[in-house]
Amino acid sequence: MGKVTDLKIDLVEVCEAAARACAPWVGSGRKDEGDGLAVDAMRARINQVRMKGVVVIGEGAKDEAPALYDGEEVGTGEGLEVDIAVDPIEGTNLFAKDMPGSICTLAAAPAGAMYRPGSCFYMDKQVYPKAARGKIDPEAPVKDRLAQLAKVLGKDITEVKVFVLDKPRHQDLLKEIYGCGAKVRLATDGDVNGAIQAILNMGCDALLGIGGTPEGIVTACAARAMGAEMFGRMAPQKDFEIEACKKEGLDTTRIIERDELVTSDDCLFIATGLTSGAYVRHVKAGTDAYGKYMTTDTVVLDGGIGNIRHVQTTVHV
Ligand code: FBP
Repeated sequence: MGKVTDLKIDLVEVCEAAARACAPWVGSGRKDEGDGLAVDAMRARINQVRMKGVVVIGEGAKDEAPALYDGEEVGTGEGLEVDIAVDPIEGTNLFAKDMPGSICTLAAAPAGAMYRPGSCFYMDKQVYPKAARGKIDPEAPVKDRLAQLAKVLGKDITEVKVFVLDKPRHQDLLKEIYGCGAKVRLATDGDVNGAIQAILNMGCDALLGIGGTPEGIVTACAARAMGAEMFGRMAPQKDFEIEACKKEGLDTTRIIERDELVTSDDCLFIATGLTSGAYVRHVKAGTDAYGKYMTTDTVVLDGGIGNIRHVQTTVHV
């Protein structure tokens, strides 16, 4: 029947197509235009992939925006049944301002394998590298978790660095981290990047804090693919969201383990750089003897073999 991870080259091309389409808008100050172009290009290419895909983590309901929406069927409708999570531009502000860390990203796993978050848009996330898998108590106070992390990494706590989104809601979290002597890498946006930096040992040892749930599911695929550790907890922030989650009877105290966020090792995380980042470079445009071209840089985390692959592709446009 085949595996989801066998679709990797096709799905890399989906992210590459989206990146090429929106790259001319990097630094334009206009995030919506870029987003629309990325969505259209992603949809056109993903519908050529031989699979029965369903977007289970998309960009909201069908009529909200020009988006790949939750429940949208994608692919040719033949072959493997696949759960797809997409974020055509993760870090739309970073994209609009040409700041580091904006990516086109997609994750895939067998049908039914991805956690369905319902109406909850925000998730409290903890992501740690592979060495910490099974060694962190997710319910312990932050200082204890960082001490456990320092121990497994063989570091002093002052050498541990945590990626945190720079948001008012994280004031207490920041106090706790600084309070135990650990360091923080702050960013205005892009917690998928923070998680990947922790998973791939890119100068960060953990991601902590509240960010988007869609980004959380994408991150879970990356964590599982690389054998890293992750925990989530639903953390609605906005009034309407808190109300909707109450109606759905959502337990906002329960820690959701990585293997519930994505239940299969047969999973993929793919990210193509839009602006320069720690693990993928920006889209480059140029001209050579054959005409104008664009070069994209993509990372693929493959749960089937647990490896990391970099794909650099040049296409004449
Ligand atoms: P967008 O690309 O949708 O703007 O998301 C950027 C992001 O920073 C995510 O990485 C993060 O999970 C989420 O926004 C946090 O949401 P908020 O900015 O509302 O705190």
